[in-house]
Amino acid sequence: MKAFVDQDICIGCSLCCEIYDAVFRMNDDGKAEVYQAVTGEEQDHVQDAIDSCPVSAIRWED
Ligand code: F3S
Repeated sequence: MKAFVDQDICIGCSLCCEIYDAVFRMNDDGKAEVYQAVTGEEQDHVQDAIDSCPVSAIRWED
């Protein structure tokens, strides 16, 4: 599965990176981005980040 951070919505709070930095990192624009595909075991961590993002900027990609 792949996750996606909507750059127009992210406010750069970096919470997702604190929750799971194996998948999320901050980019030069001060927004979060996904830099790794998500393996099955990691899905719960990514879902935690999705649920915790204050502006709901993170989604699963189809
Ligand atoms: Fe941005 Fe949400 Fe992460 S605001 S930095 S995608 S927790």
